[in-house]
Amino acid sequence: MTCYTTSACFFLFLLFVIASGDCDAAKGGPYLPLQIPKPEVNYKDVTIVDGVCARLYVPISATPNQKLPLVVYFHGGAFTMFSAFLPPYDDYLYSLSTKANVVALSVEYRRPLTYPIPIPFDDSWAAVKWVASHSAGRGPEELVNNHVDFTRVFLQGDSAGGTIAHNIALRAGLEKPEGLNIAGLALMHPYFWGSKPISTRETRNETESALAASVWFVAGGSNIDDPRVNPLEDPNLSSLGCNKVLVVIAEQDIFRDRGFYYYDALGKSGWKGKAEVMETPGEHVFYIHQPNTTYAEDIFGRVSSFVSCA
Ligand SMILES: *[C@@H]1O[C@H](CO)[C@@H](O)[C@H](O)[C@H]1NC(C)=O
Ligand SMILES: *[C@@H]1O[C@H](CO)[C@@H](O)[C@H](O)[C@H]1NC(C)=O
Ligand SMILES: *[C@@H]1O[C@H](CO)[C@@H](O)[C@H](O)[C@H]1NC(C)=O
Repeated sequence: MTCYTTSACFFLFLLFVIASGDCDAAKGGPYLPLQIPKPEVNYKDVTIVDGVCARLYVPISATPNQKLPLVVYFHGGAFTMFSAFLPPYDDYLYSLSTKANVVALSVEYRRPLTYPIPIPFDDSWAAVKWVASHSAGRGPEELVNNHVDFTRVFLQGDSAGGTIAHNIALRAGLEKPEGLNIAGLALMHPYFWGSKPISTRETRNETESALAASVWFVAGGSNIDDPRVNPLEDPNLSSLGCNKVLVVIAEQDIFRDRGFYYYDALGKSGWKGKAEVMETPGEHVFYIHQPNTTYAEDIFGRVSSFVSCA
């Protein structure tokens, strides 16, 4: 597949679902290209709970007990596709860790069709609780104990990974698990949808809109107004458990208008944090697939500064 950039092609990926979320299959399957070399990080694949794993990146420049921000990343791909262990996500997290000087944890949640919704959400929640279990410096992974500044933990996700990141931040705000203090949430071209069109872009693009809704159904969701995918009317929105939110939006994205509405809804909800929005020209998640373009670099810079301070 070479046509990563068009929205139509994004949906064509649905036809190429790898129906496996198993850690070993993700790492050792015959369909995998070679891993990129990662000379500037210590990276390690960690088990979160049985069947759920994640890739951890720590810049090699970090001195023995130097504390850095942590970015917990949820990759996109309509819930059903892509992997934390493969390009382009492996490349993106490597760049983010080395250039923004952060620890990164890229979550390999199990995917539909084998593991339908809510499993991707629950696996991602398990990963965030696993992070929190290190907050007193006595968790199972020494790299996390030694290098994470627990006042600067960020969640980031693109597309369906943005849906996940939002839901994790909301659950954190409602349940307040011990040791978890999320500083910020970065939603990159997030996937949100609903039964009622909110703009002429949505009413006029009938095919794209139908496909947008089908992402949720294919992944195992039953109601497209479920607040997990349509947070605009969620009465719990003001409980979002973080201090600041960055919503990154692309002009040519069918999900563009939902991104702006999310940002507005957050402002009106009574949530106490600070929200910011950034829009650039481009198509859905172009910054992942074409990282060396001007707008992708602008986004990279904005995210880097967002995750550098609490
Ligand atoms: C259809 O959606 C695309 C982005 O997905 C947008 O650029 C275009 O303006 C929309 N068309 C109409 C007629 O609204
Ligand atoms: C709001 O949060 C409460 C407490 O967690 C939960 O019981 C309720 O279902 C949530 N409401 C919605 C619409 O999700
Ligand atoms: C982006 O640029 C870097 C460094 O110049 C290069 O290693 C990488 O392959 C490029 N990535 C893409 C997707 O073109």
